[in-house]
Amino acid sequence: MTTWSNGYRTDVTYTHGVYREMTPLLLDYASLCRGYLPLREEESFTFCELGCGHGVTTSLLAAANPQSAFYANDFNPNHIATARHTTQVAGLSNIDFYDDSFQDFLHADLPTFDYIVLHGVYSWVAERERKAIQAFIEKKLRPGGLVYISYNTLPGWAALMPMRQLMVQYAQRSTAATWPQKVQDAYHQIKDLANRDVRFFEANPAARQWITDIEGSDLNYLPHEYLNAAWEPMYFSQIARELAEAKVSYLGPASQLDQLDFLNLNNSTIDELASLQDIPFREDIRDFYVNRRFRKDIFARGLFPLPDAEQIEYLSSMRFVLAVARETVSLEHRFTVGTLTLLAHVYEPIVDLLAQGPTYLSEIVAFMHEKGVESSKVHQALRLLTGLGYTMPLVSEATVDARKQSTDRFNSFVIYRSRFYSQINYLASPLTGGPVHLSRISQLFLLAEREQREPIDLIWGLLSSQGQTMIKDGVSLETPEENIAWLQELHAEFHRMTLPALHRLGIE
Ligand SMILES: C[S@@+](CC[C@H](N)C(=O)[O-])C[C@H]1O[C@@H](n2cnc3c(N)ncnc32)[C@H](O)[C@@H]1O
Repeated sequence: MTTWSNGYRTDVTYTHGVYREMTPLLLDYASLCRGYLPLREEESFTFCELGCGHGVTTSLLAAANPQSAFYANDFNPNHIATARHTTQVAGLSNIDFYDDSFQDFLHADLPTFDYIVLHGVYSWVAERERKAIQAFIEKKLRPGGLVYISYNTLPGWAALMPMRQLMVQYAQRSTAATWPQKVQDAYHQIKDLANRDVRFFEANPAARQWITDIEGSDLNYLPHEYLNAAWEPMYFSQIARELAEAKVSYLGPASQLDQLDFLNLNNSTIDELASLQDIPFREDIRDFYVNRRFRKDIFARGLFPLPDAEQIEYLSSMRFVLAVARETVSLEHRFTVGTLTLLAHVYEPIVDLLAQGPTYLSEIVAFMHEKGVESSKVHQALRLLTGLGYTMPLVSEATVDARKQSTDRFNSFVIYRSRFYSQINYLASPLTGGPVHLSRISQLFLLAEREQREPIDLIWGLLSSQGQTMIKDGVSLETPEENIAWLQELHAEFHRMTLPALHRLGIE
């Protein structure tokens, strides 16, 4: 371990994840839904990501918001080298990456920010780094600015803390050459142990479930999750106390699925929590009820509360679209309270309407009023559909053309890369200013369209030359005929379902 890393693993690079909750417009929507006005210019905000890994999320957001300025740091130079490569090839001129530590970043020549975001960082670094992060937010966040922060949460982790201890102990004793292999060894040792007569596992079924849950996890993710010197799941109240030092206070959950209480708590608990005035205490108690292991929260430097009527006015002026293939929308979902079936007479017409294209919320409300559905139900449905990733709010129409040039360049970079890797499973939308999930195979279908090549030959040629095969229903397909037949099925589905959704989002 190097001296500059203060116990954080730098000998294994991280995964290439994209986290859609960090999309500025979604953060604004989350803020509006909680009754607070987001304070920034749509066209020219400033955005900073701390501990950005390979910087994929910030690069994508920079492409989708070309008039705004993006900054990000990560002290692992391997991560920042990859991020700079993305910037260069995708032709992004509105983003700067720094291989600074949080301490050093504090002294970099930076503007103040409308958004400071950090995902998967705060509970994996030592107190010294957390203090630097607090100081950074205190110094660099504008009044009215938002912080997005995610972290491992207590009490959700409580029963599983010993599993991290086992992971560290076994990995340290493994003779494998690399940390991903050591983690794999450790995992098998833990699995063996759980199959023996070990009282701990009998008393803690959640620990046994954890063993099943993490099976097959990305081997570059696991060392970052479990093998850093610092690893501290935290109660919300501790996070709130530490961030209060940075002059920020709690605004609410970043995800609509966490904002909508009826998905997580029964009615009497909702009433009980509503009666608690002390917010950190209330949130700690909520976390006992839901037993969440990971929280994604928004904090703000000063809250600007809106009266209900003004909140509705702001929301009504937002446009939404269906962001996925219509056929993939399911009305049945599992939430913390259990499996719920969404009301067909409310949800189906909204989804059908938004499948036709961008629609103002005021228009959706009017359309549903005709069907006898009251406006509060429509607002709630939009929040839920957005939380599920089915719908997305849209940036203003006038800005889309300018965004499209840079999203096209970024998307070309991603699509060309998918010839060799399955790393970035997202494209940038000029309409949402954020990410859209697209699998590697669908990216390759797009590549074939653009280059007017025969798609199945192109893809099977690439896969077979790289020694790869397709997987169908969890089973690896052996023969070329099986692979080609499955690719043909997927291609038909791509044309029927995926392409119309991409068109709606301004991609292609
Ligand atoms: C678990 S990863 C999360 C990466 C990225 N935010 C994501 O979610 O994909 C934590 C990141 O924080 C970076 N990091 C840890 N300590 C740091 C420090 N003191 N200064 C800057 N970056 C740090 C690591 O290199 C790593 O990329």
